[in-house]
Amino acid sequence: MNIKPAIIAGSGLLTMPGLTVDETLTVDTPWGQPSGPVYKGRLQDVDVLFLARHGDAHTIPPHKVNYRANIAALKQEGATHLLAYNAVGGICADCETGSLVVADQVIDYTWGRDHTYYDGIEEGLEHIEFTSPYDEALRQVLISAADGASVTILRQGVYGATQGPRLESGAEIIRMERDGCDIVGMTGMPEVALAREKGLSYASLSLVVNAAAGKHSGPITMADIEQVLAERIPVVCDILSRACALVSEQVHVS
Ligand code: HPA
Repeated sequence: MNIKPAIIAGSGLLTMPGLTVDETLTVDTPWGQPSGPVYKGRLQDVDVLFLARHGDAHTIPPHKVNYRANIAALKQEGATHLLAYNAVGGICADCETGSLVVADQVIDYTWGRDHTYYDGIEEGLEHIEFTSPYDEALRQVLISAADGASVTILRQGVYGATQGPRLESGAEIIRMERDGCDIVGMTGMPEVALAREKGLSYASLSLVVNAAAGKHSGPITMADIEQVLAERIPVVCDILSRACALVSEQVHVS
């Protein structure tokens, strides 16, 4: 099989340092157009694809991202392994601001999103297995990449996906904590489910950019979040680059 990793980039990551772009692709899919161009290029000599989830100008809000088109476009262009990056709020005590988490579970609190290809129209009906939403082998790739970069990483966690674009109320975070969520973000679903429906390996690297609502002294500010992004995005990029190389070497990858 021809292995090709793709990066789905979230907040704070619009272009990938070190990526040599060979082609900028405008892709159309039966589900519409993806958030922006799919960049085809090389990252440290590894063939990769890159897509900014919120568009190149970061203008598409989480509930309006065409997740179906994004996943379908990457698959059409040959992606086999999807490495997602998500900015999140931290709920659990270990998920301090600035920490990195490779989630192993998800709880979906989103609503009204086009969340499946199996809507009885384009692709009929199937019920995917979803006990372990993330691809375990690809999760281990992200963990190995972080280890290789000597970066501390939380090796599991429950990602609570909320609708946004507003942040949560304090009571919502208390409820999510009771449900078992460790981190909260707005883009984890339906992305991971759609990847499974399309038969693609998918794992996500989450960066905690703020303490979740009520876990923070004072209001959560964009200025604070931007400071965390500025400090930690280079680390995120390093891990993603290393993970792409590991995927291409087929280390740990099923
Ligand atoms: N909640 C939801 N999504 C987020 C947060 C948050 O606190 N921080 C970054 N993305």
